[in-house]
Amino acid sequence: MREDLKRIREAAVEAMQQADSIDSLNELKVRFLGKKGELTTILKGMGALSDEERPLMGQMANEVRDEINRVLDARMEELRQAVLNAKLASETIDVTLPGRALARGTKHPLTLVIDEAKQIFMGLGFEVAEGPEIESDYYNFEALNLPKDHPARDMQDTFYINPEIVLRTQTSPVQVRTMEKKAGELPVKIICPGKVYRKDDDATHSPMFHQIEGLVIDEHITMSDLKGVLLAFTQQMFGKDVKIRLRPSYFPFTEPSTEVDISCVMCGGTGCRVCSNTGWLEILGAGMVHPNVLRAGGYDPEKVSGFAFGMGVERIAMLKYGINDLRLMYENDMRFLRQF
Ligand code: DAH
Repeated sequence: MREDLKRIREAAVEAMQQADSIDSLNELKVRFLGKKGELTTILKGMGALSDEERPLMGQMANEVRDEINRVLDARMEELRQAVLNAKLASETIDVTLPGRALARGTKHPLTLVIDEAKQIFMGLGFEVAEGPEIESDYYNFEALNLPKDHPARDMQDTFYINPEIVLRTQTSPVQVRTMEKKAGELPVKIICPGKVYRKDDDATHSPMFHQIEGLVIDEHITMSDLKGVLLAFTQQMFGKDVKIRLRPSYFPFTEPSTEVDISCVMCGGTGCRVCSNTGWLEILGAGMVHPNVLRAGGYDPEKVSGFAFGMGVERIAMLKYGINDLRLMYENDMRFLRQF
């Protein structure tokens, strides 16, 4: 038995010192010290020893086990350190490498115009409202005094999802939606920038474009309030020398209706190619809110009045930045976008 213990000790120490991985070391631990391990098996045979021999063998077996454990722990520590060192070596990073520059974007000209318009109108006491792009026939047409058989619908023949649901052709549906939300409260002073959709597609028309709607309702609102607000807006947007001109027009949801021109931003009004030598550029439609529209929104046209307007954001961006082709706005060509 003494020989057995000596042999086990030597075999275990040698094998453990040569173990080259934590897994194989663990296997050796089971093999020598485990419940069914070699040392345990020998200890089980101690019952057969004489009373004199048993304590001696017991002591020796303990010493062998302690030594194996010591060697095991030492080797385990070495292997752990080796694993850590390998990991550290493989994960070194060169902190002196130059960083990767992130390309920084710029705001799209349409976003710039919308942001600036929001700033201007907020300065005039307006709130920014929103409405859905997928709109009901009711809000897009009916509530705006455009019944089903109205000829003015032809101008906005559009993308129908079903006979009652359309991609909104204008931001005007937000007028009645806002009135319903305000539920009779005064004043109503909102603008609504957003996307609109029509089945046009050529050099100056895109099937998706942007509008900014405006709506003001209060007691004693008149056409001069409309003119004053639009003059303040256009002068902040295009420069303080810009003049405006109102021409009679027709929209089903306003009465009277007007088209608003600004003095040409290219030539200052003397006449050039951009303004077709008229000195004026049309920039928006507007008017006094039609009594039927006020009623549809729950307001009494006998007690309150209001004005509304709607402008095309693309047109304003083209005039403000001198962009001569609408399609540039949607091509995402970096050479174009970087200029803003
Ligand atoms: N919704 C009209 C369009 O798309 C623009 C417009 C005209 C809006 C007059 C208005 C308005 O609010 O009063 O052509």
